[in-house]
Amino acid sequence: MVPQLEDLGDVHGKTVLVRTDFNVPMSGPDDARVIADDFRIRAALPTISWLTDRGAKVICASHLGRPNGKVNIKYSMVPIQNRLSEIAPGVVLLENLRFSSGEESNDPAFVAHLINGVDLYVNDAFGAAHRSHASIVGPPKSLPSAAGRLLQHEVEVLGEMRNNPKRPFVAVLGGAKVSDKIGVIDALSKVVDSFVIGGGMCFTFLAAKSFPIGDSLCEPDQISFCKKLLDSDLKIYLPEDIVGVDKDGNFATFGVRLPNGAKGLDIGPGSAAAFADIIMGARSVFWNGPMGMFEDVRFAAGTRTVAQAMSETKAFTVVGGGDSAAALAQFGFEKDVDHVSTGGGASLEFLELGDLPGLSALRGAPNVN
Ligand code: 3PG
Repeated sequence: MVPQLEDLGDVHGKTVLVRTDFNVPMSGPDDARVIADDFRIRAALPTISWLTDRGAKVICASHLGRPNGKVNIKYSMVPIQNRLSEIAPGVVLLENLRFSSGEESNDPAFVAHLINGVDLYVNDAFGAAHRSHASIVGPPKSLPSAAGRLLQHEVEVLGEMRNNPKRPFVAVLGGAKVSDKIGVIDALSKVVDSFVIGGGMCFTFLAAKSFPIGDSLCEPDQISFCKKLLDSDLKIYLPEDIVGVDKDGNFATFGVRLPNGAKGLDIGPGSAAAFADIIMGARSVFWNGPMGMFEDVRFAAGTRTVAQAMSETKAFTVVGGGDSAAALAQFGFEKDVDHVSTGGGASLEFLELGDLPGLSALRGAPNVN
């Protein structure tokens, strides 16, 4: 069992290190970055206030981006510390954990440095709980530890979807690469009733069905994996029309056979309507990955239609972080789904394996045994 905040005992007067995932989207020049979306910061508030309300001193720690063990102003936590001070006054935030190479290499000396003067450890960084990094797996080896409210809630919701879904259960997958999704497709194929596949990854599936795909994204080394899935008993829905550009770069709509030089960049309107119907008829839907290049308004319609169907269906809906969560927010539907996970890779890994390094570390903490 993963220990909860209540398992920490009396926290009054204690110094608590809270590992948060404040890896938020940032914009602006390198030396004057601004937060583009503070969803992950606000998501940590229930845990932070639970602790501060009970008289604990809270020190938050997070990574931001991938500075590869070097100090880099572009990835400084200062803008995030400023935002945190507005919504949780008095709470300290350490500088980017990944400024030290010891974070990613899980160096015991870096763990010792992190927990120096700390009494208790809380992991509320669901989005980073799939990383065996120092701040995730190190502190629970010696400190009484617990999962924060966000981590706990993510695990409950995704665990229920993985182990006990209401049927029909549909997984809607998009994004660029099949190779990023192999593990989760394998794992979900044992629990879902059907897959709906769009985004850049659909072209590798279409190539596996021997359709010409022009210059669209394709992973040749994944074609045999896609073929195997298509030949299995799984129900896999692929687009039947595509939107993109022709060989001269002009906007165009195609069937599933793309001419030479053409490039597919979104699912077509017929496919978007068909995918929406499947979502409307489901009782559980997990969505990860946009249907097209939605940052460009010409190729946003497929993702928008899926996002809208997610918001309107009566099914239990979970959106798995990253780009799909950003798309949902861009189209204004984020409040209309049951759960938007704060983890992209973490939600996929949890659905695949049913556990994460950060969770097993908490189960081994000294207050548990
Ligand atoms: C995320 O944004 O998915 C998490 O913060 C993990 O970041 P990482 O992929 O750089 O480890």
